[in-house]
Amino acid sequence: MSNNTTRPRVFSGMRPTGALHIGHLFGALGNWVRLQDEADCIFSVVDLHAITTAYEDPSRVVDDGLLMLADWMAVGVDPERSVVFRQSDVPGHSQLHLMLSMITPLSWLERVPTYKGQIEELGEHLSTYGFLGYPLLQTADIILYKATQVPVGQDQLPHLELAREVVRRFNHMYGRRVFPEPAARLADTPLILGTDGRKMSKSYGNSLTLGASDDEIATLTKGMVTDPQRVRRSDPGRPEVCNVFSYHKLFGAPPAEVDEIHEGCTTATLGCVDCKKRLCARVTDTIAPIRERRNALLADASALRDTLADGAARANAIAQPVLAEAEEAMGLRHGA
Ligand code: TRP
Ligand code: SF4
Repeated sequence: MSNNTTRPRVFSGMRPTGALHIGHLFGALGNWVRLQDEADCIFSVVDLHAITTAYEDPSRVVDDGLLMLADWMAVGVDPERSVVFRQSDVPGHSQLHLMLSMITPLSWLERVPTYKGQIEELGEHLSTYGFLGYPLLQTADIILYKATQVPVGQDQLPHLELAREVVRRFNHMYGRRVFPEPAARLADTPLILGTDGRKMSKSYGNSLTLGASDDEIATLTKGMVTDPQRVRRSDPGRPEVCNVFSYHKLFGAPPAEVDEIHEGCTTATLGCVDCKKRLCARVTDTIAPIRERRNALLADASALRDTLADGAARANAIAQPVLAEAEEAMGLRHGA
């Protein structure tokens, strides 16, 4: 990471929850990879955040972190140019989280929409102190590096709002501007549905993972839901309601081919079977090289662990002086 002070500092994190899929690729990750050209980026495998929901069976968290790192690197997250590390390897996250918890009103956390929503959805086992503090740990993640830009999806906006409120309260309470207010950096990514047209989810088995084999890609594309009104081959179709058509665009079909598919579909000269075969080839062209890189990275787990260790050392070097500054502001230590 360069020390060029004119580049903004970006922080983002992802929970290690298993193999990543094309929703991650065309959503968050594509954005991360591009940002590396214009910002000093810090990307974290947020394993402590994973524990807030996986605490009853955390047995996969470490391995899922390595899998995720391999996926990140396979799509172009570059640990040389960016700082890539695991949250729990840098103790400052936990320390700052605890410090921030002292000044954060309970009501601020209780009213974060994801809090009640997730408990309703996922049940009582989330009624923990740690889960209530999830967005505050996220705040600590970001401000521990004085990051100002946070690439996230729409769903994370309430967490960024809380982060800014906590920053304002801290700076105001201790009379100095220790932390800058972070802002979300939304990418305009299209809504990406699963192959069956429902929300993409591991439990539905409707997502193309970045490690999918050619056979899996063939099976998933073949089974894709198309325009439900196109019953017979001779019926004209409606590409604008067809997920196969969306995927052609998502996977980078050139404009001329997009037009040709549109025309073929609406005039019934192109059948869905052929349309899907073309999509299968297109998806394979994108995924196969990612899969090869990913598998090569996974073949050397100790190199992945070294990458995380190196990232942790670099992250810690940035975090330590910020933590010291926050401790001093809070009256926990005298200035140097
Ligand atoms: N809560 C984020 C999510 O579920 C993950 C996350 C944790 C994060 N810490 C972060 C994202 C800091 C951005 C910045 O997607
Ligand atoms: Fe969808 Fe292609 Fe069939 Fe048209 S031809 S309905 S775009 S799969």
